Amino acid sequence: MPYVAETLVAQIDAESGSPETIALAGDIIRQGGLVAFPTETVYGLGANAFDAAAVSRIFEAKQRPANDPIIVHIAIPEDIFSIARDVPDIAAQLAQVFWPGPLTLILKKHDAIPSNVTANQDTVAVRIPDHPVALSLLRTAGVPIGAPSANRFSRPSPTRAEHVLTDLAGSIDVVLDSGSTPIGVESTIIDLTSPTPRLLRPGGTSLERLREYLPEIDYEPKYITDNQSAPAPGTLLKHYAPHAQVTLYDGERQATIEHMHAIAMTEIANGNKVGLLLSDEDIGHFEDLNVEIATLGDSESTTAARLYQALRELDATHVDVIFARAPHSTGLGLAIRDRLIRAAEGHVVTVE
Ligand code: TXA
Ligand code: MG
Repeated sequence: MPYVAETLVAQIDAESGSPETIALAGDIIRQGGLVAFPTETVYGLGANAFDAAAVSRIFEAKQRPANDPIIVHIAIPEDIFSIARDVPDIAAQLAQVFWPGPLTLILKKHDAIPSNVTANQDTVAVRIPDHPVALSLLRTAGVPIGAPSANRFSRPSPTRAEHVLTDLAGSIDVVLDSGSTPIGVESTIIDLTSPTPRLLRPGGTSLERLREYLPEIDYEPKYITDNQSAPAPGTLLKHYAPHAQVTLYDGERQATIEHMHAIAMTEIANGNKVGLLLSDEDIGHFEDLNVEIATLGDSESTTAARLYQALRELDATHVDVIFARAPHSTGLGLAIRDRLIRAAEGHVVTVE
């Protein structure tokens, strides 16, 4: 059956959960196919995590480099023991508090996990997603599901089924469509195999909440360019990038808005088409300009939920440049800031 040339788009009914569709998707996973499915963060591109050939199809479909490891999704905390070994007590505690939810734990890898899942490292990333469709797919498939975000490598992550299709139609078997993903940025990743726990990627679970359980957790943001050799997984600077050049402006609000306004006027005068990513409260300051605006709403959670959609929306209007104002590095703001820095490939302007 699987590995079809045409991708099936299956709507999931919120009320019934569409059990027949989920059963079909579970079969496809068990037979080595690729199923894109919603999680609470972004859409994932799933394959049976125990099947090396199926996992290699994920890398092909996404055009993902083989040195970028994949997160294994499980249905219940006990499944951790078939994925990982030497699991520390703190992992069980964190699982109890944060799962299902947007927290990924890096643990020592179990031999049953094929080496392409973990990019040949002896550690593995694991989480239980908090989304009814993801959970029922995991239960029905009966195997752990390896799933990176369901976008083409280095494109913004997909928060809607249509984003998955834009990037991957024809390369995957099915997309389970249940509308927008609620959180909108990926899970927080923490490494529990290093002497001190390390935050590897800020995400849907805030650093402040993690500090309640891991007071000693370390975070050192890493942004690495393509031509530096052997970057650690997930530290590549160019990631989540739309086609237009993104610049991030960081500073006190009023001064930053005025600076962005002036630069936008210059770009327009130079014949460039300008796109702006703006919070509701900032929009009024740019209404006099002939620009494309994508709105991020009025809070951290609306900003996270709309960020990738907004980048794709602006890209679709063929803007030459995109400007955004950097959020604070607290709560979800830390993850939003990280994704914007990557989308901007490091073009961050500090406004005095
Ligand atoms: O929210 C999410 O985490 C989404 C949904 C689908 O679950 N998944 C996701 O996967 O964002 P992906 O592939 O786009 O990001 C996975 C990242 C890798 O790029 C790498 O940074 C990190 O997880 N990772 C995976 N395994 C690792 C390992 N063994 N050691 C260090 N980092 C690892
Ligand atoms: Mg990704």
